[in-house]
Amino acid sequence: MTYSRYDSGGKGSWEYKSRRDRSDSRERRNDSKIYKNCYEVSDITANRSDNEVQQYMEQNEIAVKGEEFLRPVQTFQELSVPAYALAPIKRNKFEKPTPIQAQSWPLALSGYDMVGVAQTGSGKTYSFVLPAVVHIKNQEQKTREPQALILSPTRELCQQISQVASEFARDANLKIVTVYGGAPKGDQKRALYGGVDILVATPGRLIDFMEMRVISVREVSFLVLDEADRMLDMGFAPQMKDIIRKTRSDRQTLMFSATWPKEVHKLADSYLTDYIKVNIGAQDLHANHKINQVIHMVDEREKTGRLNKLLDEIMRAEDNKTIIFVETKRGAESLARNLYNDQFPVVAMHGDKSQHEREYALKEFKSGKKPILIATDVASRGIDIRDIRYVINFDYPNNSEDYVHRIGRTARSNATGDAHTFFTRANAPKARDLVKVLEEAGQNVPRELLDYSRQAYGKPRYGGYQGRPRSGGSGGWREAWGDSSSRSHSHKKF
Ligand SMILES: Nc1ncnc2c1ncn2[C@@H]1O[C@H](COP(=O)(O)OP(=O)(O)OP(=O)(O)O)[C@@H](O)[C@H]1O
Ligand SMILES: [Mg+2]
Repeated sequence: MTYSRYDSGGKGSWEYKSRRDRSDSRERRNDSKIYKNCYEVSDITANRSDNEVQQYMEQNEIAVKGEEFLRPVQTFQELSVPAYALAPIKRNKFEKPTPIQAQSWPLALSGYDMVGVAQTGSGKTYSFVLPAVVHIKNQEQKTREPQALILSPTRELCQQISQVASEFARDANLKIVTVYGGAPKGDQKRALYGGVDILVATPGRLIDFMEMRVISVREVSFLVLDEADRMLDMGFAPQMKDIIRKTRSDRQTLMFSATWPKEVHKLADSYLTDYIKVNIGAQDLHANHKINQVIHMVDEREKTGRLNKLLDEIMRAEDNKTIIFVETKRGAESLARNLYNDQFPVVAMHGDKSQHEREYALKEFKSGKKPILIATDVASRGIDIRDIRYVINFDYPNNSEDYVHRIGRTARSNATGDAHTFFTRANAPKARDLVKVLEEAGQNVPRELLDYSRQAYGKPRYGGYQGRPRSGGSGGWREAWGDSSSRSHSHKKF
C-alpha cells in the first residue's frame, strides 16, 4: 500500500477537514495573532469520492503520516487561493500540480507543520513558496521585518529559491531579500534596511546579521528548511537552534528534501510541532526514476581516459549539458585543467572559488556557452537547470544520499537524463547502499558491484546508514557550503 494514514485506527481517513484555526492552541511570544489557516477546500476536491482520492494517491505513491489528513488538490483549478498565488503557475504553463505540491499545499496552507520528502526535480520549491506567500498576505499585522524565513544550505540555492519567490512577489506585492556568504555585506544590509517580507538565507550570514542587529527574526511565523536533512546534519545544529529559537514560538515550520535519513528524524522532531509527513514514492532512499543510471566499474587510473571517451560521445550530441562531480576542490581544479587542455568547454565551481567566479561559472554553464560544469558537492543539492542532460560522478560521493542528489541534477520536471558513475574498488564499502538505490529504480546492477555489496565491505557501519560526513560542529559547514562569514573556519571540505 503506498498511501496511508499511519495512525488512522480505521477512522474515516479520506474525509476532508473543515476550515479551522490552529493558531489558538499554541503559546505565543508576541501579542499579535498569527493566522495560520489560509485554506478552504474547494467543491471539486470535496466532491470527489473516497475511491477517486485513494486511486490518485496510489497512482502517485503519496503517503501521509500524522494526525490529520487533507485531500490532495489534483488540479490547479481546484486550488482555492487568491489570484496572486496562481499567477506564476499560469505564467509557467504547468499542466497540473506535482504529487508533492498536490499534497503539501492543503496541509501547509492550513497551518500544519510538515516534512515533505519527494524526489529530486519534483517541484518542492513551489510546495513551500506558494504557502509562504499566502501566509504572509493572510496576516493582519504589517511589519518591516521578515514574516517568512527560508533557510537553505548554499548560496546558489538561496539565489534560486529567491527567483522562484520573486515570481510570486510581483503579484503579491511582497519584498524578498536574499542573504548569503561570499557577497559584500553592504548591499545585503541596505536591502534588509529597506524592509523585508520573505527572507531567504544561508544560516551563517543570517547569524552574522542577527548578531550585528541588522535583522531580527522575531516576527518569523513561517519557517522553511529546504534541503532539511543537509541543514540538520551539517554539524551546525547549534547555529540552527540559535536562529530557530529566535523566531516566533507559534510559528509554522516546514522541512523539505529528496532524502530523509533516520539520523535527522530526532533533530526534526525538536523543531516541528505535531507535524505531518508527506512522502512521495518509496519510503526508503530512492532516486528519480526518470534517470537512466549507468555504473562503470573502473580502476582509479583508468578514470581520466574513460571520462574523455564518455565526453567525446556526449559532446557530439546537441543536447549535451553535463555536470561532473568530484570529491575535492583540488580534484575539481585539476580535472578542469586537464579537460581544458583537451579542448573541452569546461567551467568549474567549488568552495575555493570566489563568489564572483562561482556565479560566472554557473552563468556560462546555464547559457550553454560552456556545456560542461565540474563541481564539488556544493552543486549537488537543489540546483535546477532544466536542460542538464548528463551527470557524471567522476568520484563516487561520500554516501548514497549525496549520490541521489547529485544524479538528481538531471531529469528535472518532466525531463529525462543519464547518470554515469565511476565506481572503484576503494568505493566498495558503499556498494551495498548503491545497489539498493539501483534496484529500487529498476536499474542494471553490474556483477562486480553486486559482489562488492555481498562481501564484508558492504556491512553497514552505523545500523544501516553508511559514512555520512559529519563536521561535528567544527564550523566546516560554512566553508563547505559557501557560508564564508566572519566566523569562517579553516576546516575546508568541498
Ligand atoms: N507543477 C509543475 N509541473 C511541471 N513542472 C513544474 C511544476 N512545479 C515545478 N515545476 C518545475 O520543476 C522543476 C524542479 O522544481 P524544483 O527545483 O522545485 O524541484 P525540487 O523538488 O526542489 O528538486 P531538488 O530535490 O533537486 O531540490 C523546476 O524547473 C520547476 O519550475
Ligand atoms: Mg529543491
